[in-house]
Amino acid sequence: MSGSSTGASSWQVCPRCSKELPLSFAKSRCPACSALLEARHRPPERRGRALRELFAERRGSGRVLDASGVWRFRELVLPDAGAGVVTHPEGNTPLLSLPAVSRWTGLADLAVKHEGHNPTGSFKDRGMTVGVTVAKRIGARAVACASTGNTSASLAAYAALAEIPALVFVPAGQVAAGKLAQTLAYGAKTLLVRGDFDACFALAVEASEKLNVHLLNSVNPFRLEGQKTIVFEALEQLGWEPPDWIALPAGNLGNTSAFGNALRDARDLGLISRIPRLAAVQAEGANPFARGFREGFARRYRVKAETAATAIRIGDPASHERAVGAIRATNGVVTDVTDDEILEAKAVVDASGAGCEPASAASIAGVKKLVGEGVIRPGERVVAILTGHILKDPGLLLRYHMESDPPPPRANRPVEIEPALSAVENVLGRSVS
Ligand code: F0G
Repeated sequence: MSGSSTGASSWQVCPRCSKELPLSFAKSRCPACSALLEARHRPPERRGRALRELFAERRGSGRVLDASGVWRFRELVLPDAGAGVVTHPEGNTPLLSLPAVSRWTGLADLAVKHEGHNPTGSFKDRGMTVGVTVAKRIGARAVACASTGNTSASLAAYAALAEIPALVFVPAGQVAAGKLAQTLAYGAKTLLVRGDFDACFALAVEASEKLNVHLLNSVNPFRLEGQKTIVFEALEQLGWEPPDWIALPAGNLGNTSAFGNALRDARDLGLISRIPRLAAVQAEGANPFARGFREGFARRYRVKAETAATAIRIGDPASHERAVGAIRATNGVVTDVTDDEILEAKAVVDASGAGCEPASAASIAGVKKLVGEGVIRPGERVVAILTGHILKDPGLLLRYHMESDPPPPRANRPVEIEPALSAVENVLGRSVS
């Protein structure tokens, strides 16, 4: 967090060749060496305990910026944020203790940070409030993204708030119903691309370069600045006493990168004294990052992705390089879990009363697997991130509980009856005995 030569409070820097660019530079890659750019800010005046106190004071204030679980941490997100901020507000998500989920993973102390409690039902809102705020500030004529569904729903909502037209590219037939419904309802121009997410992303990048629309995928460094606040908020909820592990689902690897940056910032500013280890969890059918990890990241894999967890159905993650940095810097691990493991974890989270979307449950399934392998010890403190809301994917839920034959182990079959008390008695008799 060194100061910039330009005197601006935020700017961009290339991590590979150190080239500096202003905040207004609207492309995600370095013009000199094409690495993904990173955001930098002037260092905050306060550090350590004084900075922690500033964040805490804001919780009780009535100011619009302070009401947001993103903008409350603005010194580490976009320090000169002010009246032009596009906010719902977002963040302020709960850190839950769910004994049944904890038991299922084999841990004594699992805390679950539920990002499904954001305004559009996923963690994407934390990045989007920053991305759209910057887009508005630099006068973007339209914003765009490729998406497996959550980014598009979030972009559509924040673009509508900012009154900027939004264009989204989603894989035709592969987006969960709740996400597509949101994207349409918030008013984004929605392109159903006959291809997978990776094809959507390539097209969105090309469109942003040639058609002058502002790209708001997580390659955009300001999206990641917002997503860092998941970690800041979780640490704050733990009294800034870091857990041993933070587990999260991994797809395009923007969030894994943001978590690495957040932990670096938190340590450099004296907010925490020790860095938790990251555990990034992929679906087995969409596991290029997990494959790379198993070989010490000696090579970068690209796969044809297939998983029921459509949010993380990604074969060629855009933020691969910086996510490798995040795993290395935190002494982290990457693992993968089968769709059956994801669906069982989801059924456990759902039945706990918290509920989440399929991709979110990958973090819980991953924790169970890592505990089983002895990588995470049963006594260690773990925070697992649930990235999206249970209602994002009603289609999968109805298939799991009502249609799959034979029923999966945790299916909760409904019972159709005649409108008669005797029929109710019959059912009660069966389920109580
Ligand atoms: N969980 C959910 C619910 C997601 O929607 C995503 C990504 C991830 C986890 C993985 O995060 O990509 O930063 O590694 N969804 C993107 C989208 C790709 O388009 O909504 P990541």
